[in-house]
Amino acid sequence: MTQTLAGLDVATDSKDKRMKAIAVTPGKPNTIHLREVAKPRTEEVPGGRGVLVKILRVGVDGTDKEINAAEYGAAPPGDDYLILGHESFGRVEAVGPSVTELKPGDFVAATVRRPGLSIYDQISTYDMTTDDTYFERGINLRHGFLTEYIVDDPEYLVRVPEGLRHVGVLMEPTSVVEKGIAQAYEIQRRLRVWRPRRAAVLGASTLGLTKAPYLNSTLIDQVGARYVSTEEISLTEASRQFGPFDIILEGTGFSPLVFEAMDVLAKNGVLVMVSVTGGSRKVEVPADRINLGFVLGNKVAVGSVNANREYFEMGVKDLSTAELAYPGWLSKLLTHPVKGLENYQELLNTLTTAKGAIKVYCEVAPL
Ligand code: BGC
Ligand code: ZN
Repeated sequence: MTQTLAGLDVATDSKDKRMKAIAVTPGKPNTIHLREVAKPRTEEVPGGRGVLVKILRVGVDGTDKEINAAEYGAAPPGDDYLILGHESFGRVEAVGPSVTELKPGDFVAATVRRPGLSIYDQISTYDMTTDDTYFERGINLRHGFLTEYIVDDPEYLVRVPEGLRHVGVLMEPTSVVEKGIAQAYEIQRRLRVWRPRRAAVLGASTLGLTKAPYLNSTLIDQVGARYVSTEEISLTEASRQFGPFDIILEGTGFSPLVFEAMDVLAKNGVLVMVSVTGGSRKVEVPADRINLGFVLGNKVAVGSVNANREYFEMGVKDLSTAELAYPGWLSKLLTHPVKGLENYQELLNTLTTAKGAIKVYCEVAPL
């Protein structure tokens, strides 16, 4: 049981029933704070299906930055705060009597979205919901993972092999990319034969929200790709030199680039947009030319948000392959660890100001 006292939740139960969490007050800018909340129990999930997970690491990204800036996000009904964090990695600590999929000791990453009511939600593709209201842990109407423990249904917990534990915090960002690419290939079946020859990824962090030219260029070279900075050469020029691009994945968080990408996309190409942009930026675009290029070139642009369990499972496979193909490479993406939930301010400062950051994450507990 908890009481609210001067804006803080003061648990009246014994100490082991309370835990720390990093939260914000949605709608008010710069309210990130540490609070004490009740520790969740497996019984909270009906039918004996609860899984208690001890959180080990949680990544942060541009969405967290926007939520703290009050540009995005909402608190769960009945609460005036939102526990942040949607990029989780943890270890199962206890399971309810009807859980057969997971056992204590298993490493897991949690999916972010929870089902609504549309037909897509009913077939476990909640990432494709047509409901106006969507539920996302750590983002919209559901508490997140920047805390010591969470409880969830095994449907939303994806097992990560122990050999990937050091990079398990990359699971959620990976799932978003997996979905984007899978969508592109699914759409391109329209072409009967599609042999993409060149791809461009716009954005150079895990989802392209921060820039780190030097570190990134080396890392990108190491996997046989080419890094170019739009500070030195525009996308249009890059496309002239290295394109045309059959597939473009846009993840910079800078929406004007979407229109430049549409303009340079190859004939029969596909543009996948994954940037979540909560602002209200406006730009002027060469509308006739973009439209003409799309029509005459049979081009496709597709938006892709979130990811369901299927894409997390693809993520496990691809992270495993990456680790085998380029041992140690993935760990180099984990540039900025911040130890302990109590260092929430440092976590946010690192996210907003660190030079060369690819992945900023909180080490909630030792691996
Ligand atoms: C998360 C997605 C989420 C999206 C929109 C992103 O930062 O990675 O899971 O669907 O924000 O809220
Ligand atoms: Zn994220």
